[in-house]
Amino acid sequence: MEERIVSGELQGQEDMEELSLRPQTLSQYIGQKAVKENLTVFIEAAKMREECLDHVLLYGPPGLGKTTLAMIIANEMGVNLRTTSGPAIERPGDLAAVLSGLEPGDVLFIDEIHRLNRSVEEVLYPAMEDYFLDIVIGKGPSARSVRVDLPPFTLVGATTRAGMISAPLRDRFGVVSRLEYYTHGELQEIVERTADVLEVSMDTEAAVEVSGRSRGTPRIANRILRRIRDFAQVRGDGTINLSITQQALELLQVDPLGLDQIDHILLMNIIEKFRGGPVGLDTIAATIGEEAHTIEDVYEPYLMQIGFLQRTPRGRMVTPLVYDHFDLEVPKR
Ligand code: ADE
Repeated sequence: MEERIVSGELQGQEDMEELSLRPQTLSQYIGQKAVKENLTVFIEAAKMREECLDHVLLYGPPGLGKTTLAMIIANEMGVNLRTTSGPAIERPGDLAAVLSGLEPGDVLFIDEIHRLNRSVEEVLYPAMEDYFLDIVIGKGPSARSVRVDLPPFTLVGATTRAGMISAPLRDRFGVVSRLEYYTHGELQEIVERTADVLEVSMDTEAAVEVSGRSRGTPRIANRILRRIRDFAQVRGDGTINLSITQQALELLQVDPLGLDQIDHILLMNIIEKFRGGPVGLDTIAATIGEEAHTIEDVYEPYLMQIGFLQRTPRGRMVTPLVYDHFDLEVPKR
């Protein structure tokens, strides 16, 4: 069961490398100024009172650093981090196993917390509020409830969908923080920091180019950086310069705004098959062969942020900016 519960998110060589690239402290963490400032105060106050930090809910699009912040919180508090995810905790007993294994003060990180089912959520409420579990053992007339005391702990929940968290769960978090897309300047700093950690030399123009094409997302910036490092090693002298960067981005099919092949397919599909929309999410998903929730969580937020896509009551619509971007004529309505 341990394997199922402890997240399998990070496994491959590249994922392990990604772990080692992550900042370890809030002072190393770039961007998310408001979140960082708040957490700095809350962590210091909790440490001064020798209490554990209040529960923290982090929400926002994928790749903006929710897992990294959970790691940093545990590190700054000097406690262990235990990681799991909403879909991995199927039954109340799964959650009970994780919670009863915690040591005092530990941080429990639950990714995709909006995917916890109702029966598991209900076990979580008293655990968060008063550090105990009410477990029902047995069935039928002989069923009884057993109270299990827990050590104080901090729950860090992460979700891409704040709207899908039930109100009772959301209300039990003392700190609720929304992560924003990063600015180009912040992404440039992140890419330069990562290049430093990877011990690869990178020109400033190259870092600027990558930061402009990473959709405001450090995970994408760092992934692109690793691919460019491959190109620099094989096709160049190992140094990442602007020319190698541009060649690599072209081969990776990342366009000047950072949109990739799937963004293109999604937008062109709405234009070509649905005259620009409005069209329903499920119809888009079926016609491009992607899961509706992947489109909604991963692709749409950035397209909406840059004003390429609108959600209307009748469905998704592309905006005139998309026609401009693809050099197409805006159809007459
Ligand atoms: N690597 C990924 N995200 C980062 C961040 N926000 N700050 C520093 N390095 C990072």
